[in-house]
Amino acid sequence: MNQTKSQKTGMARLLELGARKKGLVVCSCVLAVLGVALSFAPFVAIYFIIRELVTHFTDLSSIDAEHMIRLGWYAAGGAVGAIALNFAALMCSHLAAFSTQYELKLEFANHIASLPLGFHSANSTGKLRKIVDENIEKLEGFVAHNLPDLAGSFAMPILTLAILFVFDWRLGAASLIPIIAAFSIQMASMGQEKAKIYIKRYQNALEDMNNASVEYVRGISVLKAFNQTVFSFRKFYEIIRNYSKFVMSYTIAFEKIYTVFLTIIGHAYIFLVPAIILIAGGAEDYAKFAMAAVFYIFFSFSLATPFTKLVYVSQIGNQVADGIGRMDKILNAAPLPETSAPKTAAAYSIAFENVTFSYNGEGESVALNGVSFTAAQGEITALVGPSGSGKSTIGHLIPRFYDVAEGSIKIGGVDIRDMASDDLMSIVGFVFQDVFLFKQSILDNIKIGDPNAGREEVVAAAKAAMCHDFIEKLPQGYDTVFGSSGVHLSGGERQRIVIARAILKNAPILVLDEATAFADPENEQKIQLALSELMKNKTVIIIAHRLSTVRGADKILVVNKGKIAETGRHDELVAANGRYAAMWELYSGAANWMLGKETANA
Ligand SMILES: Nc1ncnc2c1ncn2[C@@H]1O[C@H](COP(=O)(O)OP(=O)(O)OP(=O)(O)O)[C@@H](O)[C@H]1O
Ligand SMILES: [Mg+2]
Repeated sequence: MNQTKSQKTGMARLLELGARKKGLVVCSCVLAVLGVALSFAPFVAIYFIIRELVTHFTDLSSIDAEHMIRLGWYAAGGAVGAIALNFAALMCSHLAAFSTQYELKLEFANHIASLPLGFHSANSTGKLRKIVDENIEKLEGFVAHNLPDLAGSFAMPILTLAILFVFDWRLGAASLIPIIAAFSIQMASMGQEKAKIYIKRYQNALEDMNNASVEYVRGISVLKAFNQTVFSFRKFYEIIRNYSKFVMSYTIAFEKIYTVFLTIIGHAYIFLVPAIILIAGGAEDYAKFAMAAVFYIFFSFSLATPFTKLVYVSQIGNQVADGIGRMDKILNAAPLPETSAPKTAAAYSIAFENVTFSYNGEGESVALNGVSFTAAQGEITALVGPSGSGKSTIGHLIPRFYDVAEGSIKIGGVDIRDMASDDLMSIVGFVFQDVFLFKQSILDNIKIGDPNAGREEVVAAAKAAMCHDFIEKLPQGYDTVFGSSGVHLSGGERQRIVIARAILKNAPILVLDEATAFADPENEQKIQLALSELMKNKTVIIIAHRLSTVRGADKILVVNKGKIAETGRHDELVAANGRYAAMWELYSGAANWMLGKETANA
């Protein structure tokens, strides 16, 4: 699958995307232009009818009736033919649009799958879907409707001008004045650059408002619980106000100019009439001139259409181009670099060597700063430390959610960047705090750990993860679809399903991030049991807030402000009387306090 890596922007990029189905698009444009040309047939026919009438108006019986009828048929045929050609043009453009849309969506899906996993935690799936769906749809609309329109809109003014000059160049020139005047005014007040800026700001404001409204709906239960109104949801309220303010200023800025534009171009006869009067005095063939004058006045009413359409289509084009720019930002996000000569790890120890990492690229706000440690194979290495110190970040770097900025991470001595990503994925199992279950059966949700596993193996994993009992109680047991109505799983239950997934995967390296964070004591104990099953003979990195969990770890790393502050076993660290010792004192104090209270109650 070829990737759309394009440096082009705006209209050029739009045409590039549209040209993927070149044959169909060209066909559609040619048909559209022919359609436009035919649509002039009635005007020309009527011109000849008027000429016939004017030349013979002293003696109407001398009119060539058959010729008149033929002209009538030409007019009708032209009109019908124009509609038919237009229809055919739209057929072609729709075919092109649908297949372009299909290809782009496929490309998108492929591209998104190749991005670092971290990209997805930074960009919510909802946001991605919105950008992809909305903008690809806009592109589809553009290719299906606006592209043939655009071709027609370019052909129409040219044909119009040709016709204007063929019959009487002086009147043609007079008709040209309002067109030139209208466009000059439009251009002078609202150049392309300025229009582009407006469109960008408009789209930004719209996007902000859409995002805020989603957030508002999500948070509505909280708002209700705290008896708040929409006005206290300041952010949403202000974003809506900003949007409306912007749209008002946008409208006002365009309004006056556009009114002037439409007035001038729609009333071309105002310029024609004085010209007709001036020229009429010197006309040699008065009848012929009168006839041309009538035709021009008549024709001048249809002058506005091709030109206003040109303005309209170019505006739509700018809007779509802006949307495509947003989409390209995602398409151009760099995929996780894959090595061309992959190496495999023979052992499963983990080593961080001077790792520096920042979420937003270079320099500012580093999340990890010169982190070095080793986690031996078959041992449990625990990470503790205050919130925001960088524990989860260390965990996320091991399965390569992101690449490090400096230093390296090695598994069994091999830099993880030198491993094939499939390979890395297969040797690292992880249970992160944001548990995600797919809207499919519990069985399939667990089977993600090992797609080839049989039902018995899944059940065995579920038993080990202490979730067999509650799964059995669900309406359809293991075949219950998660997310279907009436199926509710608690946070702890969901976490145990994800643990079952990891047990089934049985990877030699395991990263556990606060796996017991929101479990009640009974649940926590079950999760602990499940985990001890999972951790047997593995290289384990465990991140926990409850120090009881990490007490038995082979090595404890105290993380603080993106650095490793202390390293050692529990006893050593307590004896060292540093940061860990202080944390332990606080923790065991709290535990004793709880115990004391319970004893008092008994
Ligand atoms: N996706 C992200 N984008 C930008 N910054 C992030 C992201 N995730 C974490 N950070 C920042 O990186 C730093 C380390 O965060 P991290 O999640 O590793 O902390 P933690 O030790 O796991 O904290 P906690 O105990 O609360 O889970 C924090 O300053 C945090 O704000
Ligand atoms: Mg964390």
